[in-house]
Amino acid sequence: MNRLEETVSSWPVAGATLAGRTRRVYDRLAAVYPLSTMFFHSRAHRCALGASGLRDGMNVLEVATGSGEMFRRLVRANSGGMTVGLDLSPNMAARTQRAARRKFPAARTHCQAVDARHMPFRAETFDAIFCCYLLELLSAEDIVSTLCEFRRVLRDRGNLTMVLIGQNTATFNAVYKVLGKVAPAFWGRQVERRVPELIESVRFEILHDEVVVQTFYPSRVLVARK
Ligand SMILES: C[S@@+](CC[C@H](N)C(=O)[O-])C[C@H]1O[C@@H](n2cnc3c(N)ncnc32)[C@H](O)[C@@H]1O
Repeated sequence: MNRLEETVSSWPVAGATLAGRTRRVYDRLAAVYPLSTMFFHSRAHRCALGASGLRDGMNVLEVATGSGEMFRRLVRANSGGMTVGLDLSPNMAARTQRAARRKFPAARTHCQAVDARHMPFRAETFDAIFCCYLLELLSAEDIVSTLCEFRRVLRDRGNLTMVLIGQNTATFNAVYKVLGKVAPAFWGRQVERRVPELIESVRFEILHDEVVVQTFYPSRVLVARK
């Protein structure tokens, strides 16, 4: 076992990925999920886009689109390029696709139900990758393999922009711990403090690191270059 594997296997997390249950729970919540984005995620989404270095005309991938609020920001900013989205939940992916096509009929967009751990794209397909609030839902081993997938499908010197749930507030952390125990497939558990080390271990260089708070909900925005 190498040092990285030792580090992740010592994390206090559920060993097996909860992917099946996660897909079912997010499938059921697809219609109401936009509220969560509006109250807790939209400010971090805006900061992530601003810090990402995205330029119109790129091939852009968003992993784990949820109900598509960030995806539509990306499509608007990349109206001359191609914007691809994926989510484990078919209902989330369908909702994202429908709304993006309705709002931006002329834009090149595509969204489908795909597991981020095994993405059906050739190496170096994308100029930029975005991924917000996904790693909390993956097992430690899957976080590492998903980061390796990001590296594989991103072109050289392309940017990976991630948003994680912040761990900088003791009360919030305590509440989150309880929520994560009650419904692990929906809330997952906080991993933000350990992720920068993992990003660097798969040979990304962190360019931007910012904490954003919205309605008491802390987020950490990271931009890393391959
Ligand atoms: C907390 S939500 C975040 C949604 C959105 N990114 C946002 O910023 O609001 C997590 C999303 O990750 C998706 N997800 C969970 N595991 C996944 C996986 N292995 N591959 C792709 N998507 C996954 C869920 O279906 C859900 O839509």
